[in-house]
Amino acid sequence: MLTEMIRLFLLLVFVSFTVPLFAQEPAAPKLFDPVAVNGKIFDGWDKPKLLLVFTGFMDGYVEPCGCAGLEQMKGGLSRRLTFFNELKAKNWDVFPIEAGNLNKGFGSQEELKYNFVIDEALRKMNYEVAGLGPKELLFPTDTLILYLVDSPGVPRRYTSANVAVMEFDPEFTAPYRVFTKNGIKIGVVSVVGNSFLKDVHNTEILHKSPIEGLKEILPKLNAEKCGKKVLIIYGTTEEVNQIVKEFSGQFDYIVPSDTPAEPPLKPNTLNGSMLIETGEKGKFAVAVGLYDNPEQPFRYQRVPLDSRFKNSAEVLAMMQMYQEQLKQTGLAGLGIKPIPDRRTDTQGKFTGTKSCADCHEESYLVWKKSKHGNAWQPLKEKSVPPRNFDPECIACHTDGWNPQEFLPYQHGYRNEKETPELVNVGCESCHGPGENHIKAEQGSDAVRQELLRKALRLPLENGVAKKQCIQCHDGDNSPHFNFETYWQKIVHKEKE
Ligand code: HEC
Ligand code: HEC
Ligand code: HEC
Ligand code: HEC
Repeated sequence: MLTEMIRLFLLLVFVSFTVPLFAQEPAAPKLFDPVAVNGKIFDGWDKPKLLLVFTGFMDGYVEPCGCAGLEQMKGGLSRRLTFFNELKAKNWDVFPIEAGNLNKGFGSQEELKYNFVIDEALRKMNYEVAGLGPKELLFPTDTLILYLVDSPGVPRRYTSANVAVMEFDPEFTAPYRVFTKNGIKIGVVSVVGNSFLKDVHNTEILHKSPIEGLKEILPKLNAEKCGKKVLIIYGTTEEVNQIVKEFSGQFDYIVPSDTPAEPPLKPNTLNGSMLIETGEKGKFAVAVGLYDNPEQPFRYQRVPLDSRFKNSAEVLAMMQMYQEQLKQTGLAGLGIKPIPDRRTDTQGKFTGTKSCADCHEESYLVWKKSKHGNAWQPLKEKSVPPRNFDPECIACHTDGWNPQEFLPYQHGYRNEKETPELVNVGCESCHGPGENHIKAEQGSDAVRQELLRKALRLPLENGVAKKQCIQCHDGDNSPHFNFETYWQKIVHKEKE
């Protein structure tokens, strides 16, 4: 009996010691296998007569979107170029068609990104046609003209059947484009629905209804005897349905802006046309192989632009040039004007985390060890090329910016020289500016002290704190964010 108990005791001791020990063993690093996760591509395909490759709605995501670990993310022009280069190496004939909305917004940074990366990369991939999207229409007229009108040696690719800049003149805005590739004649048209034109306030941009525009263009396209006709539509589901119904079966491929986030595994059809749903943010390309075989005239493949495609050195060089331009231009040169922060009225300016450390040592030590305490470094050292001059990255990796608008507050981070104390995700990224709190604590006005302590509090109750976190921990940059588990990693308390 006694030996039984001793044995049991020893067993318990053994278990309680070894289990946590084993549990703490670092798990062998799991290699991410993109092909196993996202599937093979072109499996069992013969060489097509022509491969149409559709992409669209990149929305400025020139790189895989987000901060969740590049390995597992999809998209980016660098991988897209490698994909095209691999097709070229296989000797396949390829015709790429871009639906447009390549940029995210307008402004100097958007133009630099467009000129140094987007336009250059698309040229390397031999894109000859793109739909003119509502995002492109946000650029000022003189910029748009440069993007629309051919200049010697620089042919342009945009087309729109119902929108034009300055006047409806094919020299300015091509109403359609026709190409012959490997004996197949392809016509491409694009329209922007009224619901998307609502946001275009530039009076130099003229438009008619998509149906009116298409009725004028279709006879010309038919006269050209196109074997394949592509229609890109910017519109709501209703608008797309209405347009497709009006031109039922006249287009082979409809590319709607109203796409699911990821393309389907098999193509859908709508009123006799094949729907090409490209997905969002340039994460996928959709390929349609054309064959002379009447038994199987086409094959369809969605192509995840994942880490099976290596980064292209050429696009990296473009990114480097672009980042260099951002550095040279500086925030002011980019036209980035600091915005007022309504918290400043009560709380004063941002002062930097060091100024909190004197009185809040415990919180400071927790912070210093957390990833927030080192959030600036990854922009300089982990990112290729370094991104510490890029407002689209600075916004969440420093103090005093609006993370979703990529704009600095009036007393927020400027640059490492002027505001070295505001790098990293400091105390004030969550608690707000602390200048007046510090002053109050150094004084003796108890009422004011309480008022400012209250202003800086970030209660866990009613999702107040969580609301602050998800400004930065959004779907793109922190897809696995869970308030409870994340908060546990940075919990700091000073009183019970
Ligand atoms: C001169 C000392 C001092 C400095 C510097 C200081 N604090 Fe405080 N802080 C206090 C005192 C004292 C309290 C009230 C006691 C407490 O709640 O811990 C307080 C309270 C707070 C509270 C509210 C806690 C609560 O629930 O009442 C927050 C949040 C806070 N400080 C954040 C900051 C931040 C952020 C900084 C830097 C920008 C900072 N403090 C700098 C002294 C200081
Ligand atoms: C909207 C906010 C936001 C923006 C904008 C943003 N990041 Fe992040 N970044 C985060 C968050 C949040 C994390 C942590 C994600 C997590 O662990 O869940 C992160 C993590 C990272 C990491 C991983 C750091 C590490 O320790 O491994 C890198 C690298 C990074 N970001 C680089 C960038 C770059 C480069 C840009 C600009 C292209 C950028 N970030 C823009 C919020 C942002
Ligand atoms: C990522 C966001 C975040 C950062 C960064 C952060 N805090 Fe907090 N802090 C919070 C939240 C949320 C709470 C509320 C906790 C609660 O109500 O229990 C809190 C609570 C506090 C409290 C009150 C603790 C208590 O016992 O009631 C103080 C003081 C404080 N933080 C100071 C700091 C200081 C100083 C820093 C920088 C060294 C800092 N915090 C960085 C989010 C943050
Ligand atoms: C101003 C933007 C910003 C805010 C606000 C913010 N974070 Fe973060 N957070 C980041 C960035 C950037 C990183 C990545 C830093 C790195 O890895 O170097 C990060 C990383 C983290 C990590 C580390 C994740 C890991 O992989 O270990 C945790 C945990 C975290 N944040 C929790 C929170 C919580 C909880 C809140 C809200 C109370 C919050 N954060 C608010 C920007 C922010």
